[in-house]
Amino acid sequence: DLLLFALVLLLTAECLRARRPRSFPPGPRAFPLVGNMFSLDPGDVHGDMTKLSEKYGKVYSLKMGPSWTVVLNGLSALQEGLTKGDHLNDRPELFYTHCIIFSNGHMWKQQRRFALFTLKYFGVGKKSLEFSILDEFMYISKEIANHKGKPFNPHLIMNNAVSNIICSLVFGHRFEYGNEKFLKMMKLFDKGSQIEASIWAQLYNAFPVLMRRLPGPHHALQNIYGEIMDLIKTEVNQHKEDWNPSEPRDFIDCYLNEIQKVADAGFNEDNLVMCGFDLFGAGSHTTSVTLRWALLYMTKYPEVQAKVQAEIDEVVGTSRQPSMEDRADLPYTDAVIHEIQRMGNIVPLSLPHVTTRDIRLGGYKIPKGVTIIPNLTSVLFDKNEWETPDAFNPGHFLNPEGKFVKRAAFIPFSAGKRVCLGENLARMELFLFFTSFMQRFSFSTPPGVEPVLKPRFGVTLSPPPFEICATPRKE
Ligand code: HEM
Repeated sequence: DLLLFALVLLLTAECLRARRPRSFPPGPRAFPLVGNMFSLDPGDVHGDMTKLSEKYGKVYSLKMGPSWTVVLNGLSALQEGLTKGDHLNDRPELFYTHCIIFSNGHMWKQQRRFALFTLKYFGVGKKSLEFSILDEFMYISKEIANHKGKPFNPHLIMNNAVSNIICSLVFGHRFEYGNEKFLKMMKLFDKGSQIEASIWAQLYNAFPVLMRRLPGPHHALQNIYGEIMDLIKTEVNQHKEDWNPSEPRDFIDCYLNEIQKVADAGFNEDNLVMCGFDLFGAGSHTTSVTLRWALLYMTKYPEVQAKVQAEIDEVVGTSRQPSMEDRADLPYTDAVIHEIQRMGNIVPLSLPHVTTRDIRLGGYKIPKGVTIIPNLTSVLFDKNEWETPDAFNPGHFLNPEGKFVKRAAFIPFSAGKRVCLGENLARMELFLFFTSFMQRFSFSTPPGVEPVLKPRFGVTLSPPPFEICATPRKE
């Protein structure tokens, strides 16, 4: 009887909790316990969230497991939420919460500021980094040429290339692609992101207390990421052996200097390792997925590829590599890269934020501690912002004279104080790698194969596995 009574009590409490708090943004009816969690198509959560905004407005709410979540849709709601004030600067507790640059409060501010400064110091926007990227391209171009025009899957090549750029910045050196340590790190990150993309991670985010106690593959993640941290720790120890504070060579050296200089407990060796981990975790997969989208879109639209190549041939020629200074003279190529990012929409729901105090948003009262999802998809595909939102159209970024134009609704890196920390680095990598690819090779799908542009929903929206043929162009 007591058990039955407890159950009835629990169910009544859940039914009450499933009722939307007064003056909260509207939204679909939530079910006890699971809320709206299972009403969204796991393969198209961002699409479903965008559709819901047509019915419930630009600011609406959903119950994800036991917690209420507010979804922001459209450019003005996102701007109001993310760029005005600091009330959405925090992140909720997430499945994997050992990150440092993704933390909150003083820790987040000091580590983000330091990471931004150091990335800039080591060349984001400067020639030294440009050389590293172009040098890396020469290695991948050899790998690609080895396939002699035969079909190959570009996944590993792209991952290796962009991971080596982070290695250069963080460790001060690149790895040969066959290096044992490098291969191990790549494999561990791949394995980790598979678990992070699984239903286990979603359940953990919704029911952290319960999931901590239940068995499942989500527990393996601690070990996988622990192994990566150990690899980074080895690099830190090697750096300490020949570290010269007056001549920092990379992110690790700068951080070691900061530990000595700054009497703040936030700067210590454990956090150094975690920051390195954050830069790899956030910076490799994202850029590599975008480059894979780029190649896939070029096979789907060979006429666009030919136009990009003609522009590069005219402005850069074939006797030198492209440089960042060429960007202003390559408006069509620049527009194509932007359109690839818009259509690729690789982080469709950005990363979640959380209200730092009671706020008003879109006319609604939202209490402190509510998770906020900035729905980037609703902006990148908004029919009021783009002439042909669902079509691949580089013209979105060109004026009638063919000059490149910036668009406010282009926000694949999100906006506000939590905007992507690696935006400038990513833009530089995308431009230099993409123009180098187009200068050296023509890409096509294997004979008889149609490119499939339907994305896979995981840690990011990525292209399904595909093979591609690369034909060398004239030297
Ligand atoms: C955060 C997109 C590449 C480091 C983010 C966010 C987005 C994003 C949407 C969430 C912003 C928010 O919460 O409002 C992308 C895309 C990339 C890319 C589309 C490539 C095409 C990179 C790279 C790095 C990086 C290359 C670093 C080397 C980070 C970090 C954060 C972040 C550290 C967390 C910032 C914070 O919490 O303060 N990124 N990113 N990203 N990104 Fe990127």
